[in-house]
Amino acid sequence: MAKYIVVTGGAGYIGSHTVVSLVENGYTPVILDDFRNANRVVIDGLKAILQAEPIIHEGDICDPNFLDSIFEKYEPLSVIHFAAYKAVGESVAEPLNYYQNNISGLVNVLQKMLEFNISNFVFSSSCTVYGEPKGQKEVTEETEKNLPNSPYGYTKWIGEQIIQDVYNANKHLKVINLRYFNPVGAHKSALIGEFPIGRPNNLLPFVTQTAIGKQEILTVFGNDYPTPDGTCIRDYIHVSDLANAHVKAVDFLMEKKSGLLENINIGTGKGTSVKEIIQAFVKETGVVLNWQNGPRREGDVVEIYANASKAEKLLGWKSELTIVDAVRDAWNWEQYLSK
Ligand code: WQD
Repeated sequence: MAKYIVVTGGAGYIGSHTVVSLVENGYTPVILDDFRNANRVVIDGLKAILQAEPIIHEGDICDPNFLDSIFEKYEPLSVIHFAAYKAVGESVAEPLNYYQNNISGLVNVLQKMLEFNISNFVFSSSCTVYGEPKGQKEVTEETEKNLPNSPYGYTKWIGEQIIQDVYNANKHLKVINLRYFNPVGAHKSALIGEFPIGRPNNLLPFVTQTAIGKQEILTVFGNDYPTPDGTCIRDYIHVSDLANAHVKAVDFLMEKKSGLLENINIGTGKGTSVKEIIQAFVKETGVVLNWQNGPRREGDVVEIYANASKAEKLLGWKSELTIVDAVRDAWNWEQYLSK
């Protein structure tokens, strides 16, 4: 009997890498995606890596009938919910699109899980729920959740609240909110990776696009922050490590007999600055990167990185890949895209 796991947004960046890790660990992922925020080239990449056709159903998770058909057909052991918009800047410009898609999608998935008695749920949450940590830069899951600084961040913040309320009313549910820090890199095969639509918002895809010539110059958003080299610090987690964390989360839920709700940070536990990312990229690739210092970006947190000890204690997971692995794999993927 196949161990079906429904992966909403499974054709996306983190979703597709998680699909690979699920298959490698004996699960059968069922990808639900409407490709509004994913590129179909990922399907070829998955076929090449898996040496098999992934199960993909194209549809909108906001459509109750679509979810009915999937849950009836597969009776999945768990749902991993990625499907959401995730660009901080875009969410400021288009808040209603973010609330409509991210919140309605989550509510619909939860409603259908209750209807079909599916108890295991892994939610793609984010360190953005911490906002700007007051004082303590290394955040634990008990660190106070400050108000987020973007509509995107609010959809994760409200999303966790919705999940908490649904769990309080349905204590048989087994839920893990994985709070990602900064996902970076690509699969070691360079056959799947991040697919920014339009001009990248995030740092590493902008670095690789500048290096390959798709962007003219990388601007460092602020070099006068109170950090060692003046640039913002983040916890950059290799997407393949992040994918493995989802498998560990599903394993954990499958072992548990009674209901639970856990928030778990998924990061390396180490802070890396913007300039350190640039230096690591140039050193690893040998590419001369065209970059400049520029003004700060509105809404940027100065410094945040994970205390990831709970993930290790509870899930038996910790990051294994490094920043050097991430910049190398991101560059290999960018070169593959440009072939
Ligand atoms: C990182 C640093 C920028 C671009 C992201 C996602 C969010 C969440 C957390 C998952 C900042 C600087 C960037 C550029 C730059 N992930 N930068 N020049 O803002 O931490 O948030 O990770 O939920 O969804 O958006 O990541 O990569 O945008 O920025 O100097 O061209 O790089 O100012 O200091 P961020 P980012």
